[in-house]
Amino acid sequence: MQIPSEKLQRAGKVLRNAILSRAPHMIRDRKYHLKTYRQCCVGTELVDWLVLQSACVLTRSHAVGMWQALLEEGVLNHVDQELGFYDKYLFYRFLDDEEEDTPLPSEEEKRESEEELPETILFLAQIGPDALLRMILRKSPGQRTGDDLEIIYDELLHIKALAHLSNTVSQLNIVNTSEPHITIFSLFNQGEEGTSWYIILKGSVNVVIYGKGVVCTLHEGDDFGKLALVTDSPRAASIVLREDNCHFLRVDKEDFNRILRDVEANTVRLKEHDHPVLVLEKSPRASTLGNIKYTVISGTPEKILEHFLETMRMDIHHSDPGSRAELFVSVRFKTPLPDQEGPTAGSMSTFELMSSKDLAYQMTMFDWELFSCVHEHELLYHTFGRQSFKRTTANLDLFLRRFNQVQLWVVTEVCLCGQLSKRVQLLKKFIKIAAHCREFKNLNSFFAIIMGMSNPAVSRLSQTWEVNFIEKLNNPNHRSYRLTVTKLEPPIIPFVPLLLKDMTFTHEGNKTFIDNMVNFEKMRIIANTIRQVRHCRSQPFNPDICQPNKNQAEVRGYVRKLCVIDNQRALTQLSYRLEPRRT
Ligand code: CMP
Repeated sequence: MQIPSEKLQRAGKVLRNAILSRAPHMIRDRKYHLKTYRQCCVGTELVDWLVLQSACVLTRSHAVGMWQALLEEGVLNHVDQELGFYDKYLFYRFLDDEEEDTPLPSEEEKRESEEELPETILFLAQIGPDALLRMILRKSPGQRTGDDLEIIYDELLHIKALAHLSNTVSQLNIVNTSEPHITIFSLFNQGEEGTSWYIILKGSVNVVIYGKGVVCTLHEGDDFGKLALVTDSPRAASIVLREDNCHFLRVDKEDFNRILRDVEANTVRLKEHDHPVLVLEKSPRASTLGNIKYTVISGTPEKILEHFLETMRMDIHHSDPGSRAELFVSVRFKTPLPDQEGPTAGSMSTFELMSSKDLAYQMTMFDWELFSCVHEHELLYHTFGRQSFKRTTANLDLFLRRFNQVQLWVVTEVCLCGQLSKRVQLLKKFIKIAAHCREFKNLNSFFAIIMGMSNPAVSRLSQTWEVNFIEKLNNPNHRSYRLTVTKLEPPIIPFVPLLLKDMTFTHEGNKTFIDNMVNFEKMRIIANTIRQVRHCRSQPFNPDICQPNKNQAEVRGYVRKLCVIDNQRALTQLSYRLEPRRT
């Protein structure tokens, strides 16, 4: 039996003495079914009496809660020790009457009790509602009356964890888990399957993680156990009771999923030693598909890792890190092109004989070779600064260099073409090549050519542009590029400088750490860009996309050794020679 607190023990004595002075017949031997019960009271009579003693006892159920508070601590007992306190014809006995020959209170004691009675009733009136709620919650849901449900409903809305659930609480089969007199050491253990969500009504618990020990303590009104339910993963921590007589509300998984999942807080925040370590947020996209997912918003690196190790299911179809890594360390770095001063004459006479489609095809073949050598990590090294990683980005550099080279090729050829009619023809050729590149889903070279034509040294040549080709090209802006890419099927060679720009923009515009927690939203945006790249190369390049003409070796040789003037100033000067500045 529970040892009553001094205060409740005294309250019991005061009430017993007051009854013995004011209505002594209430405590007497009673017979029921041929059995005699010594010195006991009837539940309904105790309620009647208490309601009449003070205006602060508001209702009969309020009085029931007050007697229940005494019963929970063993100051008042059901004669068979079986039941809680009910406003019924049931027998209850004060602790002092348990002994056979307890002396009656002296006059002095009665006087003291009379004096203390108002304060005692006030104290019980304060703790009564909680005791009543606990009693109702201990009943099985089927035993609860309409009044009981009303009380649960009113009370629960005052609990922090449930305050926002005003419309749904009444539908829950809420269960009070721990019997008040039983000490349970651990409610559940890390690694177990999650079956319920808990709210602390009374007492406190420690959250314990293997290898870390107690990471935080949760108190009355706090909740726990949601993580395993929402992420369908094992319990991330063990819950250990810190004291006897803890009371919890338990909402079972089925109820949680049926009623609460949609309305429960959108955010799950975990703390360790008073510092936030992980923030998850409900992903709006997934919830519309009926499959609610919580995604990591921020967290410490260790906690994010811990969380992923528990929850992530590796998608074997998407990544094969081993083989990629091998590709990265062994692969075939391209030899950098030698620095060039640049040609003095254009090569139009050579490539005007080659079909635009063949040129685009060979350019695409070459780009694909370079692109497939770029490791995803190089994009990260490039974004975060290769110094921080002490790793090379040689393959990516080479690919970017090729992009510049194609741009400069366009500018060089135009600026070295002295004859206006030829220049117009040249531009038409470039436009055709660009269109074929787009057809082959080589968006990188497509943009390189377009950007070459919009280089100031070319775009200023107003006579050349009198035929307004650029409009025919339907020059796509970046937004329409992004839309285009999402619609294309792989293999695709993406517009890599734009990807890098997006990543750098995300990196520079967002802090990596916020309050010592990794800004995971930033990582996710960057990872999405990497995923785009992965998507682009998820299918091998198909060399049969075009039926090339016979002289492919020549076209191949030409596109791989484009001669360019890599000097904007020299190109601009050449441009002024073609069309002097107008005064
Ligand atoms: P769940 O994984 O279902 O079970 C253990 C619970 O402990 C977990 O949900 C959280 O609700 C709670 N908890 C509180 N703080 C932490 C923490 N720092 N790490 C893991 N779980 C925590």
